[in-house]
Formats: sequence, C-alpha cells, structure tokens
Amino acid sequence: MSTYQRIVLASRPTAEVQADNFRLETADIPAITDGHLLVRNQFLSLDPYMRGRMSVNKSYAAPQALNETMIGGTVGVVLESKHPKFTAGDTVVGTLGWAEVAVSDGTMLRKVDTTHIPASAYLGAVGMPGMTAWYGLNQIMAPKAGETVVVSAASGAVGSVVGQLAKLKGCRVVGIAGGAEKCAYVVDELGFDACVDYKAGNLQADLAEATPDGIDAIYENVGGAIFDAALARTNAFGRVAVCGWIAGYNGEPTPLDNARFILTNRLSVRGFIVSEHPELWPQGLAELGGLVATGKLKFRESVADGLASAPDAFIGLLKGHNFGKQLVKLG
Ligand SMILES: NC(=O)c1ccc[n+]([C@@H]2O[C@H](COP(=O)([O-])OP(=O)(O)OC[C@H]3O[C@@H](n4cnc5c(N)ncnc54)[C@H](OP(=O)(O)O)[C@@H]3O)[C@@H](O)[C@H]2O)c1
Repeated sequence: MSTYQRIVLASRPTAEVQADNFRLETADIPAITDGHLLVRNQFLSLDPYMRGRMSVNKSYAAPQALNETMIGGTVGVVLESKHPKFTAGDTVVGTLGWAEVAVSDGTMLRKVDTTHIPASAYLGAVGMPGMTAWYGLNQIMAPKAGETVVVSAASGAVGSVVGQLAKLKGCRVVGIAGGAEKCAYVVDELGFDACVDYKAGNLQADLAEATPDGIDAIYENVGGAIFDAALARTNAFGRVAVCGWIAGYNGEPTPLDNARFILTNRLSVRGFIVSEHPELWPQGLAELGGLVATGKLKFRESVADGLASAPDAFIGLLKGHNFGKQLVKLG
C-alpha cells in the first residue's frame, strides 16, 4: 500500500450540508521521521460539532480549513513507529481526521486496551461522547435519587449515556427522541422510565404525562421546540446542562417561548464544552470504561462502510438518520 484516501473540506455549506462540500482525494503515504508514527485508522467518528467547524461563524473553536483533511476522531492501529511511546500493533485513539492513514507526532494520541472494550467504543461511550454525558450529568445537573431527569436526542451517542448514568443514580429518566423505534429502544434496551417521541405531534402533552412530578434537571442536546417543551415542565431550582443545539446547526431559527421559566423557577442553566475540562477525562473515562466492560452501560452504533460513505453518513446524522453512535468503518 503506497497511497491512501482522505476527505477534505471543498467548500462551506450555506445551510444544509451537501455532498459536494467534501472532496475525496488519493495521496501518497509519507515516510515517517523520528518522533512520528503511522496509523491505519479502523473507525472514524462522525459528530455534530463538525457542522460548526465547516462554517466561519464565531464559535468556541477555529473553523476547519478548506482543502485540508476534515477533522475527526479516530481509532486505529499503529503500522510503523519511530516514536518512543508507541509500537507497531498498538491500538490508538486520537483526532487523525477523515483519512484511512495518518502520520502523528503522538500529540493527543493515547493507547487503549481492547481486551474488554471494543475499539469502536473508544469513539462513543468510552470516548468523547461518553465523557460529554458524564460531565454534563455529574458537574452540572448533579441529580439526586428520585429526581426526574429529561434528556433529548436520547438514543444518540451522548443522550444514551446520560440516561443510563442517571438511572444508575436512581433518578426517574425520561428521554425525548425522534420516532417510535428509537423510543422503544431507549425504554426497552437502555432502561429509561419513559421516552417521548417528539415526531408524534403531542410533545408538550406527552412530556407532561411522562413527567408527572415535573422536571428537576434537563440535559439539552437539541434546543428549539424540544428544549422549550422541557423548560415549561421544570421545577423550582432545576438545573439545565446545555450540551448541544443541533436543531439550529444549519442556521434555522430556534425561538424559545418558555424562557421565562428560567426566572420563575430560578433555574441554573450552564453550557459547556467537554474538551475544556481535560483534568476530568481520566476519572470519567475510567468510570465509563468500567461500566461498558461489565455490561452495565449499553451502546448502539450506526456504522457506514468505507471512507467514501462518510459525507452521506454525516449529512444523515444531522437529520437523525443515525441510530446510536455514527461511525465509519475504514479498515
Ligand atoms: N458540548 C459538548 O462538548 C458536546 C460534545 C459532544 C456532543 N455535543 C452535542 O451533543 C448533541 C448530541 O450529539 P451526539 O454525538 O450524541 O449525536 P447523536 O445524538 O448520536 O446524533 C444526533 C441526533 O440528534 C437528533 N437530531 C438531529 N437533527 C435534529 C433536529 N433538527 N431536531 C431535533 N433532533 C435532531 C437526531 O436524533 P432524533 O432522531 O432522536 O431526533 C440525531 O440522531 C449534539 O447537539 C452535539 O453537538 C456537545
């Protein structure tokens, strides 16, 4: 193998992402120099944050450069190493981008053990999405046993972990998800107490029925009408972890009619970016890894096949076509 494929950002979307915003390229595999290693990526993670990086709008991170390999989390195997900390055959997790092969200097790359945890889970429940769930739940919502917790995008990579961790704390957990199949999975497989299908058309009434004692803490992944419905059910001194706002990532308006409940219910509302809290990752990932390895934390994956399928899979993720953590299998 002397060449590999990668996907670069070809142009910036103006609203919904289009397939031609990306370009598939073939490149030569470079020779590695001292202090570097060559990795064959096995799985690429597709994540909603990538939509933000494709635009030049002000955000918490710099935009993705045009004509450069798209940013993305990866898990793969070291093919060749001239780096003292890595050996050929190691499984490594990092951010090596939408590429079959990548050279790394070891920065932000870590070796992982796949004995009890499958490699792909290091991009999901035992990776950035799991850590995001852990942070928002433990550091912001801090729910007590018996409290009611609501999580949107409940069947997804982050939401599914939030709900299961909250159940382990003894909370009443209510998910919100799109469609009967996702809701059935959230209740039957993940053990949530209830799940509201926001596509069924009775969001406010269905959420009221599922939260008879009101809502003590919200884990918000979506924003807009879904968040608005949850705000109207909050109890006094409720907590809100604002993790994502996917309903507005393409620039759609996402007005809130019920924001007054932040005042009248004296809510604590806090946004966060998980990458800004690296000091907590070892603790969080150790807990999540233990739970996955012992079968106490379940996860589901949508796996697209081959790098060329990544643009369509990513476009689908932003429309809810994924069911669980969206991955692309590369090798
Ligand atoms: N703050 C942070 O540091 C951080 C880190 C990671 C992720 N996040 C955020 O967490 C959220 C979940 O991310 P994830 O990786 O776990 O993705 P995911 O939930 O696995 O997939 C995205 C899901 O969002 C829902 N969705 C998509 N478009 C929607 C729309 N217009 N309206 C309502 N729902 C929509 C879909 O579920 P349904 O079919 O159920 O609608 C879709 O399956 C995202 O908002 C992401 O940006 C934040």
